[in-house]
Amino acid sequence: MKRPLLNQRLVPFGTTIFTEMSARAIATQSINLGQGFPDTDGPRGVAQRAMDAIERGEGNQYTPLPGVPPLRQAVARHQQRFYGLSYDPDTEVLVTVGATEAIASAIFALTEPGDEVIAFEPFYDSYAATIAMAGATRVGLTLRAPGFRPDLARLESLITDRTRLLLINTPHNPTGMVLTAAETSEIARIAIEHDLLVVTDEVYEHLTYDVPHVPMAGLPGMRERTVTISSGGKAFGFTGWKVGWVTGTPELVTAVRTAKQFLTFVGSGPFQFAMADALDLPDEYYAGFAADLKAKRDLLSEGLRDIGFEVYPSDGTYFVTTDITPLGETDGTEFCLGLPERARVVAIPSAVFYDDKEAGRTQVRFAFCKRTEVLHEALSRLSVLKKG
Ligand SMILES: Cc1ncc(COP(=O)(O)O)c(C=O)c1O
Repeated sequence: MKRPLLNQRLVPFGTTIFTEMSARAIATQSINLGQGFPDTDGPRGVAQRAMDAIERGEGNQYTPLPGVPPLRQAVARHQQRFYGLSYDPDTEVLVTVGATEAIASAIFALTEPGDEVIAFEPFYDSYAATIAMAGATRVGLTLRAPGFRPDLARLESLITDRTRLLLINTPHNPTGMVLTAAETSEIARIAIEHDLLVVTDEVYEHLTYDVPHVPMAGLPGMRERTVTISSGGKAFGFTGWKVGWVTGTPELVTAVRTAKQFLTFVGSGPFQFAMADALDLPDEYYAGFAADLKAKRDLLSEGLRDIGFEVYPSDGTYFVTTDITPLGETDGTEFCLGLPERARVVAIPSAVFYDDKEAGRTQVRFAFCKRTEVLHEALSRLSVLKKG
């Protein structure tokens, strides 16, 4: 009997919508507001540091498995400086190849086949795939428009004796929802009461607009059960460098490292040195980057509203979610597939992030991490959708 080529756990995932839509963007010369990457590079001095590292032979060979000491120390300083959280750079910090590897390593390390992982739905796309690869089961807590606030009573009701961990993402991609201090405390209470591990993806920690980011690990009783994941790609505008990191207790970090060593072993050598410098940038850098993105969020949100989209509030990330119903449209996937031809703009149908396709059927996500003139041009192209 001929077996199917692809591992059955991977069959539902196929080629991601990002690959498909980015190819369409190139073919139609569209502006790509689909995938979340900035169209300008991060600080010049940080880029220079990566070039210097290559010149000096820093990180050109395999780096130590946990990451180079200057970066681990910089991550520890960062957690202390922004959140008052103290981590030992030698035993409580692990450098990964982007947050993506950290997520996969954490899931592979901490779950057994049959375990359940509860995560906010819409899910960032790698969550569903890595949970499936681990043989675990994802359980979605659906965030619903317009506010996308999590229903925490429902979260508690989803917990079974198979639940192993809560996979939290704040600020949340794709919705732009940022957990409040009260919501974070309630999630902490639930995790402690049900003795669950928490893996928290905080890659957009510095991209919040007038609301604070509250790290899960900072809540009483949470440090010992929380694996915190972040990455330098988003906050420093170097998404291609793929430098991520994990912080947690020595036991948690050792577990994650055990899986990580067989994924890439190590990666991004010279960039690790540059990221160490980036993390030490002054407060003005962080504030300036967020202020710039906030202005872009406002520009795109107002422009889309003016064209006729229903635009939901986004308190963080690179993204704004819209609803296309007021434009007379009924299906976000069809809408996005046709958009490059119609308007030479690419966006992502939020339905791809949902198991409950109905919940996201008419939602479309746009990225605003682009130059102002590019956003203006995208809005001008999208104005062909204006009714009347
Ligand atoms: C929520 C979330 N987690 C993780 C990642 C991946 O981060 P990295 O590029 O560092 O692997 C992204 C990138 O889009 C993201 O949006």
